[in-house]
Amino acid sequence: MAKKVIKAKLNQKKAKSAKEAELDIIDLIMNDHKPLKELIETMKDEEAEYEEKKAAFDQFGPLLKAHAYPEEQTWYVAMKEDDDMIVEGLEGDVEHGLADQLCEELKREEDEDMFMAKVKVLAELVEHHIEEEEEDMLPDYRENSTAEERMELAAQYLQFQEEIEERGSEDAPKEASPKARKADRRLQGEERRRH
Ligand SMILES: [Fe+2]
Ligand SMILES: [Fe+2]
Repeated sequence: MAKKVIKAKLNQKKAKSAKEAELDIIDLIMNDHKPLKELIETMKDEEAEYEEKKAAFDQFGPLLKAHAYPEEQTWYVAMKEDDDMIVEGLEGDVEHGLADQLCEELKREEDEDMFMAKVKVLAELVEHHIEEEEEDMLPDYRENSTAEERMELAAQYLQFQEEIEERGSEDAPKEASPKARKADRRLQGEERRRH
């Protein structure tokens, strides 16, 4: 609990400094798109082998999550509050939902051919989505917002990103770390001895 409070305070500090640094949510979004676009190139490359695509997808999944969630919670919310941009905001949500579903399926996909098919569909879907954001939605939003609003959203965006990174690191070690597994076994042993 105390750790959470400290973290929340740190987040507030980070968000505040983001505002002081006059960050614009449009720049943050464009920046997050860059590594995604690079990985998409491998994921849709006809020449790339399974191992290469799998490695690209393993990086892509967490990066997409760390971008999509803050985007939905900030920029998309702002668009949906604006009568002129509501459909674009909803369209974004729908596309995120589809990408998320494909990512979940790909994580469990054991058939290599099916993996190759789905990873290409995911790459093309997200590539198209990013293109629409960069060429239509972000320029529209820039026209329909003030610099102050975009700074406010940038601060929130970073806060959500911090939150999701924290959640990710809390989830990962429990499954992956041998130390955690050992601690788990020890606890189970103690449980058994007690009964
Ligand atoms: Fe998006
Ligand atoms: Fe985006």
